[in-house]
Parts: sequence; C-alpha cells; structure tokens
Amino acid sequence: MAYSDKVIDHYENPRNVGSFDKGDESVGTGMVGAPACGDVMKLQIKVNAETGVIEDARFKTYGCGSAIASSSLVTEWVKGKTLDEAAALKNATIAEELALPPVKIHCSILAEDAIKAAVNDYKAKHSAKAEA
Ligand code: FES
Ligand code: FES
Repeated sequence: MAYSDKVIDHYENPRNVGSFDKGDESVGTGMVGAPACGDVMKLQIKVNAETGVIEDARFKTYGCGSAIASSSLVTEWVKGKTLDEAAALKNATIAEELALPPVKIHCSILAEDAIKAAVNDYKAKHSAKAEA
C-alpha cells in the first residue's frame, strides 16, 4: 500500500512519543483499542488548570504506520487547544490531513477516540474532586 508523505514523515519522526505520570492531576489519559485489528493507542494530555488549555501531549501506539501517524498528528494539533476544542476533533480531519486510504480510516478513528477518552479522563478526575 502506498502511504502518503505525511504518514511516512510522522511514522519516521513521530512527535511527542512517551508518557506522562497517569496519576498527575494535570494529566488526562485515553487508552483505546481497535477492534478491527487489535492495535492499541495511548494518548495523554497535560492541561493548565487555570486556563483549561492543553499545554502538552504524549502518545504511545502499538499499531500500524497510519495509527502511529494519526496519534503523532493529534498530539501536535491539540497543543494550545481547549479541552472542548480537542474533544471536537474529527477522525475525518485526521484522515484527510494524512490522506489515509479507506482501509486505514479506522486508524484515525482510534486517534479520535483516544483524544476524546483523554479529555473525558481529565474532566472526570476534576469533577470528582469538585464534588468531594
Ligand atoms: Fe494491525 Fe494495523 S492492522 S497494525
Ligand atoms: Fe489498525 Fe491502523 S490501527 S490498521
């Protein structure tokens, strides 16, 4: 299969690979798996509690080149975005930017699910505290 230059670039030079401490108050963690292929993606965001803006992001993806490229791209995009902006990110936007072929669309869905899960995890952490 022919990958686009952008996929190859993100695959060869992935941005923001790594992990934050899951227990850190400022961190939201999203961990999702793709039923279609068994690939797993972990995406984390670090949020400024005062502004609600995502200051940094990390990912670890066990999966195909498109999944790695999708998560790498998402970690770049969400920096400087609010939680709601990040949660509104659509897989179609990722697929378009990377020019993913139809059989690889689920890889970008994985990245959308992962960023949504990370935002939800962060919100859950903080609403639990607000109620306590
Ligand atoms: Fe298994 Fe993507 S299908 S790595
Ligand atoms: Fe399964 Fe890409 S995430 S083939």
